[in-house]
Amino acid sequence: MTAPETPKTYLSGVQPSGDLHLGNYFGAIRQHIAAQDNAYYFIADYHALTTQRDPQQVRDNVYDIAATYLALGLDPDRAVMWAQSDVPEVTELAWLLACVTGKGMLDRATSYKDKEAKGLTASVGLYTYPVLMAADILAFDADIVPVGSDQVQHVEMARDMAKSFNSAYGEVFKLPKFELGVPVPVPGIDGDKMSKSYGNAIPIIAPSKKLRKRVMKITTDSTPLEEAKDPTGCTVVELYKLMATSDEVAALELSYRTPGFGYGEAKQVLFEKLEEVFGAARAERERLDKDPAHVYAMLKQGADRARPVARAVLNRARKACGID
Ligand code: TRP
Repeated sequence: MTAPETPKTYLSGVQPSGDLHLGNYFGAIRQHIAAQDNAYYFIADYHALTTQRDPQQVRDNVYDIAATYLALGLDPDRAVMWAQSDVPEVTELAWLLACVTGKGMLDRATSYKDKEAKGLTASVGLYTYPVLMAADILAFDADIVPVGSDQVQHVEMARDMAKSFNSAYGEVFKLPKFELGVPVPVPGIDGDKMSKSYGNAIPIIAPSKKLRKRVMKITTDSTPLEEAKDPTGCTVVELYKLMATSDEVAALELSYRTPGFGYGEAKQVLFEKLEEVFGAARAERERLDKDPAHVYAMLKQGADRARPVARAVLNRARKACGID
């Protein structure tokens, strides 16, 4: 008889940027929540300090991520979620990893290289970003790190650091693997990739009126009302497809091909779908915002569960290199 396989540990870090939008939801959050059993998710507030200098913004963003995940269905009894800075074992581990990491590896990290290429001076924090990220992953003996393509290099570096440490001191770290999600293209209201920095985002959670206004701003072509319209590539249809059933999509496409159906109506259909999919999350978020202490308690509970795991790994690493 073969022993039952121990379930794989999933771990991912979420950068606390504000104003979470549909691109964030369909690109990452939805997958995180769907895979929440055996998962460790933390809010990377120490990483955020490499780009954010406004303390209130850092605080608000951490809260926003936690409350949004909860509102969208993160169950703190299934997934462990915490703020990175609440588990200081990770930053301690980062030092041990830094000492087995060649400078040449960090010179090749794209986040740092991109900044230098733009003629900007990088902070040491940005330069060592991959070391902290490796500690995030290795401190929890993570098996799988689900990431977007921009983070693959970082996970490979974490693997390399684990190997360097293991070859210097013995088998201390488990080697993590990345899991590349299928990219989900989410267009913004101007048809370009949805991004906070492009100013074309549709928020996941927003008051109904504001959401409708945003949807009504989606750029469409200028086919007149009385003419049939081509649904192919229309941003309204592309967004609708992310949420609607194939029958619903077919019905909308049929309407497009029917003269007299206008873009205003199409946008109304999309708006109603957004309300249907995210209305409950908005109500839950409003409830949570009346009681932020509940959200902080969830993060605290997450940190209480995460810390002993990181502590055990850190002790293993300290002992291996003679800090005991
Ligand atoms: N660098 C990741 C990002 O920008 C966030 C992150 C920090 C992370 N630590 C991590 C992701 C550890 C996965 C594992 O999205």
